[in-house]
Parts: sequence; structure tokens; C-alpha cells
Amino acid sequence: MQKEELDFFKKWFLDYVDQFSSPEAFIQENIDLKIEHTSRVCENILLLAKAENLEKEGSRLAETIALFHDLGRFEQFTKYRTFSDLESENHALLGVKILKNAGILTILSRKEKDLILKAVEYHNSMAIPECTETSSEFLFYLKLIRDADKLDILKLVSEDYEKKEEFRNPALEFDMPDTPGCSEKIVADILNNRMAKLTDAKNLNDIKLLRLSWIFDINFPAAFSLLRERGYLKTILYSIPEIEEVQIVRKHIDSYLNAIETRPRNEAMKTDIS
Ligand SMILES: [Fe+2]
Repeated sequence: MQKEELDFFKKWFLDYVDQFSSPEAFIQENIDLKIEHTSRVCENILLLAKAENLEKEGSRLAETIALFHDLGRFEQFTKYRTFSDLESENHALLGVKILKNAGILTILSRKEKDLILKAVEYHNSMAIPECTETSSEFLFYLKLIRDADKLDILKLVSEDYEKKEEFRNPALEFDMPDTPGCSEKIVADILNNRMAKLTDAKNLNDIKLLRLSWIFDINFPAAFSLLRERGYLKTILYSIPEIEEVQIVRKHIDSYLNAIETRPRNEAMKTDIS
């Protein structure tokens, strides 16, 4: 991808999100939240791309995926006043629909266009698709956006958990109540190194545990390094009340992260671009 194409997409994005400006503070704050999130996900993906020695054209493709990955969020929040896909619609599919209707990706090659649309579509899916026609190149970019996105959501929520209750953003955590206890299913998922499901979350503790379970879907060594440097996981872990299950989860996550740190580089990546 050429620099002019990326510049055109950046300008189009700013014009697109501008139409969602709202006089209502609740809407505007959450629109701004997603604009800023997009910008940081672009920064994150470039850091990961650099660590993977991606050349300029590939980095621009990665940045475009990051720029468009949450395009559906703006219409979603304005229409439904929630970021919960369960209570509204799948924001990734909505983003793909918006991109297709806008027709802006037609300036790219068919291959690049399809790759961007597919990466946006699967950026938030529970698992990475396992079909035979999935190319290793697509998987590489999909893993990049999934890691870059998770890094910033973990930043946002960990900062939010440090705030006093009245200053927190309820839309970030799907308005879950701050009640005692946690879901057995979510704890079991973590102890089995699986990402937890939002449908099993009933309160704020569950959501915090669910966020922590994302480490089982982090792919790149550089993403683990950034997580460690920035301390998000620790902040989330220590924001959960000291109940027995949480202590078990803490130990498990600590040992999982220690094992990752001592793993050789070539074992750490499940898929390399070919
Ligand atoms: Fe998203």
C-alpha cells in the first residue's frame, strides 16, 4: 500500500467520525473515547509491526486495519447507546458493511481490500478462523490487530478501575453491577488457558477476570513486553477483591506469564508471515 492511499483513508476516517458529533455529553464522550482508542491502536500496531520487521507497505496495511477496525462503534453507540454487541449488533460486521457501502477500499488491490475487510470482521471474534483457505498473511495481520486492540482496551479499563466509582465510565464495562463473587465458568476458563465469554459475565469482577483471560489470545512477544512494561494486568488483578478464586487466578496468570517470558522467540509465535 502507498502512503497516499493511507493518507486518503486517514482523512476519510476523520470526515466519517465527524458526523457523529453530538450535543449530548454521554454520546460525545464515548465517540471521543473510540476516536482516541483508534489512534492508540494505530500506534500499537505500528510498534508490533516494527518489532516483527514489517516493511513499509505492510506497516501501512496494518495501520489501515487499525484505523478501520472499530468503524462500526460510532454508528453502534449513537444508535443503541451501548458498546455491548449482545445488546445491539456485532460492531465488526457493522464496520465491514460501512466500509463496503463507502466503497473507499476500491482504490486498493483486490487482495489488500479483502484482507482489510476480513481482518475487521474477525478482529473481535472469540477465536481466530481455522478454515483451510485462510492464508498465513491474513492470519499475521489478524493477530496484529487483535493484539494491538487488546493492548489499548486493557489500558483503558485498567485506568478506569483506578478511578473512584463516580468517575468511571459505565459504558466501558457494559453497565455490569459491582456485586460480590465471580463466575465459576470464567474462573474455569482462565485455569484452562481459555478466553472467557461475555455471556458468562454477571458482574464487574467477572468482566475484570474476562479482560485478564485475554492474555490467552495474545500472539506477539512484543505485545507481552508492552503489557508487562505498562503494568495493565497487575492493575486489573489487584483491583479485584481478595476472594479465594481470585488468589488462585492470580497465581495461574503469574505462572503463565513467567512461562511466556522464558519461552524462546521462535516458539512464542504461533504463525509467521511467509
Ligand atoms: Fe472492536
